[in-house]
Amino acid sequence: MEKTYLMIKPDGVQRGLVGKIVQRFEEKGFQLIASKLLHMSREQAEYHYAEHKGKPFFGELVDFITSGPVFAMVWQGDNIIALSRAMMGKTNPMDAAPGTIRGDYAVHVGNNIIHGSDSVESAEREIANFFSPQELITYEIPLQKVI
Ligand code: PPS
Repeated sequence: MEKTYLMIKPDGVQRGLVGKIVQRFEEKGFQLIASKLLHMSREQAEYHYAEHKGKPFFGELVDFITSGPVFAMVWQGDNIIALSRAMMGKTNPMDAAPGTIRGDYAVHVGNNIIHGSDSVESAEREIANFFSPQELITYEIPLQKVI
């Protein structure tokens, strides 16, 4: 089954949105297989956002993501990368539709609540940056058959 790395950013953690956001993915029918609250190092942040190095907002992005704890998660499910990004909404909350996480909770592009992997390759790299293989817990959910 497809896996993705989802991360509630410092603004989402500080605003007390962890429970509500986790609930959305649970109710959709996805399975949580790892999670932890962590305060990432600048090194981890620069690796996580390496593809944006050199862009004008890179420094601001690293400052923000290391400014407080994030809630790091690994989820799995069929087509979860595309479906979770649809649930998150467009990167800029100005363009994010109501009903999406960013559309409902965010105003500015810098503080857009949640990050989600954009491809299988990114997901593998991002998961490995925050979790060891032993931390990914696989377990049977009988309800999975009806989702
Ligand atoms: S790009 O240039 O199109 O590839 O960038 P984009 O995919 O839109 O955004 C990549 C991540 O950078 C964050 N971002 C910003 N942070 C701070 N300030 C500004 N101006 C800004 N613009 C984009 C954006 O939220 C993306 O973060 P993630 O965590 O990947 O969603």
